[in-house]
Amino acid sequence: MAQAKGYTRNNGPLRYAHITGWGMAVPDTVMTNDDMAAIVETNDEWIRTRTGIRERRIANERESSATLGYKAATSALEVADVLPMDIDLIIVATSTAEHVFPSTANLIQDWLGASKAGAFDLAAACAGFVYAVNMATQAIRSGSIDTALVVGAETMSRIVDWTDRSTCILFGDGAGAIVLQGSDQEGGVLSAVLRSDGAGHDLLSVATPNVRELNGHTLGKMYMHGGEVFKFATRVVDESIRQVTEDAGITLSDIDLIIPHQANYRILQSAARKLNIDMDKFVSNLDRYGNTSAASIPIAMCEAIEQGRIRKDDHLVMVGFGGGLSWAAMCVRWGIPEPSQLQGNRLNRQRRRAVYLLARVRARWNRLRRAWNNVLRWSNPRNIRLMRLRRRANQQKLP
Ligand code: ACO
Repeated sequence: MAQAKGYTRNNGPLRYAHITGWGMAVPDTVMTNDDMAAIVETNDEWIRTRTGIRERRIANERESSATLGYKAATSALEVADVLPMDIDLIIVATSTAEHVFPSTANLIQDWLGASKAGAFDLAAACAGFVYAVNMATQAIRSGSIDTALVVGAETMSRIVDWTDRSTCILFGDGAGAIVLQGSDQEGGVLSAVLRSDGAGHDLLSVATPNVRELNGHTLGKMYMHGGEVFKFATRVVDESIRQVTEDAGITLSDIDLIIPHQANYRILQSAARKLNIDMDKFVSNLDRYGNTSAASIPIAMCEAIEQGRIRKDDHLVMVGFGGGLSWAAMCVRWGIPEPSQLQGNRLNRQRRRAVYLLARVRARWNRLRRAWNNVLRWSNPRNIRLMRLRRRANQQKLP
């Protein structure tokens, strides 16, 4: 087999980035197409035949991209049998963070008690997970880190325009996570292709309060030109799959499984036709979850693993596409034993639970400490005088 050209180093032994853990979390609340038809003028038949979607999960008010991502991350750490303090880097791919900052990754880092990890969010819409896995892989392959946690987490239900029937029917909420670890064993992530075409920025967008012109769109709500995005997706999926397999030194017939972004079943059918690859090789679960943006690939991967569709030495291709416009593909040679052969260390399981508990206690303690410091600060005579002055200024309506 040809040497993979995706990642090469000029000197030193090569490190390989292997996926050693995985996990997913979706909200319990199921919203069917019939439920959708009670909100906008649509019907089950239209949604099913145009998209392949039957239902999606919707987060409740206590759930967010961070809480779903945290749940998926704890499952991934369990499978990989990694302790939170052994994580070097956490990347969360999301378009639905609770804050501009802190990042969702910061919150998950804190809740996990991953005390030695750097953490940041990555914004590349539905291509975000593949972008993030590539960033973590580069860091592992350079030798600068050994263990990374990559999460794709979304609460799309918070940014869809519930009056726009052509977009709100498509999306759902959920999260998936993987642990990537460095190893001398050849395999793991073999190659990646990342691409962007910002000229299509207005085809799929969500405006923040910082936007210069709203152009008739609603602040904080998704706008999509579905037809154009559909054409773009059908063009780039097969192109990037061809490119990434070539870079990995394999042929299309060597691919065992394709894990695509779950946007529309017809996009997957078009890619299968163009590539002349059987539909059976495409993982599809969008009938149950809809489009969960950056979370869709890791969720589909988790389900494929659980269904026994991924075996040691299989070649997988992941491909994501969406807002930006941005798209990305990645080729992986699965390098670890099947899940049934993995045995988590019981002691480590207890240690992880203890770390999560400690992280929660520490977060509460820090909040209490800050509240107490505020009380002390405002009981200082100088601050009391300052407060009185401000109150007087307000009453006199001074500038
Ligand atoms: N129910 C019933 N009728 C509908 C609905 C609905 N939910 N939505 C639209 N229609 C109607 C339209 O009004 C239109 O009616 P008209 O002909 O009388 O004007 C008709 O159906 C056809 O509309 P189209 O938009 O042409 O429908 P199309 O077949 O293109 O399907 C869809 C629309 C499903 C959105 C498709 O374009 C698509 O899947 N696009 C790609 C989405 C995607 O892949 N996004 C990926 C990235 S997402 C991310 O990055 C965050």
